[in-house]
Amino acid sequence: DWTMSAYAETAIRQIRETVGENGTVLLALSGGVDSSVVAALIYKAIGKRLTCVFVDHGLLRKGESDQVCHVFSHLFPVRFIRSDAADRFFADLKGVTEPEEKRHIIGRDFIEVFKKEATALGKLDYFAQGTIYPDVIESGQGTNAAVIKSHHNVGGLPKELGFTELIEPLRMLFKDEVRALGETLGLPKELVWRQPFPGPGLAIRIIGEVTPEKAEIVRESDAIFREEIAAAGLDRHVNQYFTVLTGIQSVGVMGDERTYDYTIALRAVTTDDFMTADWARLPYDLIARVSARIVNEVPHASRVVLDVTTKPPASIEWE
Ligand code: XMP
Repeated sequence: DWTMSAYAETAIRQIRETVGENGTVLLALSGGVDSSVVAALIYKAIGKRLTCVFVDHGLLRKGESDQVCHVFSHLFPVRFIRSDAADRFFADLKGVTEPEEKRHIIGRDFIEVFKKEATALGKLDYFAQGTIYPDVIESGQGTNAAVIKSHHNVGGLPKELGFTELIEPLRMLFKDEVRALGETLGLPKELVWRQPFPGPGLAIRIIGEVTPEKAEIVRESDAIFREEIAAAGLDRHVNQYFTVLTGIQSVGVMGDERTYDYTIALRAVTTDDFMTADWARLPYDLIARVSARIVNEVPHASRVVLDVTTKPPASIEWE
């Protein structure tokens, strides 16, 4: 697509001009499409003067951390730091139930872990991140938007680390444009078409207190949902889909025993820009398979419900 190759060329030239002959760049990499496209642009602009740091907070999807490391070591032969910080995040989230408080704790821990890694690396000149236009708007940095949710990928980090110069080449783009740019840059399709995943990860898909046990329940149920959506060939048609561990326990029966276990909600939406969304009309037989597998395969999940709400008034995530 000519618009996107022009955009890429301009972005790469601008990065090169900004960073100069010898400058170095630090990129906070999440493994999602946004930061991956930023990595590609910067790598094309300055090569090995890019360093990536990936923080694993223990609230990623099943297999995600290994996958990100694997894909990146192949795509971009740059310095890549993976920081395993699950213990710290779970410790700090203990007992916390308020969504905004969770977001703030995760944002703060992310900054601390990142700071620790960055300090160990020594001073790099520029800080890059994969901020896209909707992040800017929903964080209240747009012209007239109220703060709806505190996105943890925008804001504090660069300032905390003493960076004055930011590189945010996607700041003006919507998600579909970022994907088009990713394809133009030759990134693998699985990566480009990956559904978005929020910075705070599974923490905002666990209603109430976050524990490693609950993370496991939502992670396993989510993996089943994703597997079945892919098997049905719907992964390109449904723009975002995941499970939520609701705070509700309900009575069930297993054999002769009464159970009192968790309710999993299925959330699947179609959307162009993630600013508004409709709930996806998934086939009943797919929903039936997912439900049966979740209650059979995931310990402590005993009921499955379907979220049939549009955005607005609901947001896509539950917290
Ligand atoms: P909501 O729930 O606000 O979500 O309708 C809109 C889109 O944004 C994603 N999202 C986030 N992405 N950091 C992110 O990078 C965050 O803190 C965050 N919160 C929500 C959400 O998954 C959806 O795609």
